[in-house]
Amino acid sequence: MRVSPYGALHGMKTDDAVEEVFETLARALSAIGLVYLHVVDLSTMGGPEVKPSVKRKLREAFRGTLILSGGYDRDRAEADLVESKGDLVAFGRPFLANPRLVTRMRQRKPLAAPDASTFYTPGEAGYTDCG
Ligand SMILES: Cc1cc2nc3c(=O)[nH]c(=O)nc-3n(C[C@H](O)[C@H](O)[C@H](O)COP(=O)(O)O)c2cc1C
Repeated sequence: MRVSPYGALHGMKTDDAVEEVFETLARALSAIGLVYLHVVDLSTMGGPEVKPSVKRKLREAFRGTLILSGGYDRDRAEADLVESKGDLVAFGRPFLANPRLVTRMRQRKPLAAPDASTFYTPGEAGYTDCG
């Protein structure tokens, strides 16, 4: 399951109980043995900050695999994994612009920058014509 605490894009609103709500949800999902919880952080895409406190609470409440996402590069991903903030890190836009993202990261090669003007468009541009 993907969850989006503080996710307040497209007119949606957040409220004061957001951390408690998501912590309770994570605990309940953990109790039924859900395999993974994927935390969406869209703060680098214009969304509000997803406070570290809620990520910590999800980490403590959920026993399955916790996946972090949002604005990651290789070094930040490594740092958060080393600190056990999550078990895995997901990449969105870097993968769109770099189909061989894993290889490039392994080899520490430079990455092509995502081109937002190609998002949601058909064709190769911005997807497989680079990286
Ligand atoms: C073009 C585009 C389409 C996306 N579509 C979805 C979607 O349908 N559902 C979803 O949960 N997230 C969607 N996302 C958000 C990504 O899954 C991811 O959470 C976001 O890009 C932040 O990660 P990043 O900084 O690694 O890109 C989309 C992102 C982009 C750029």
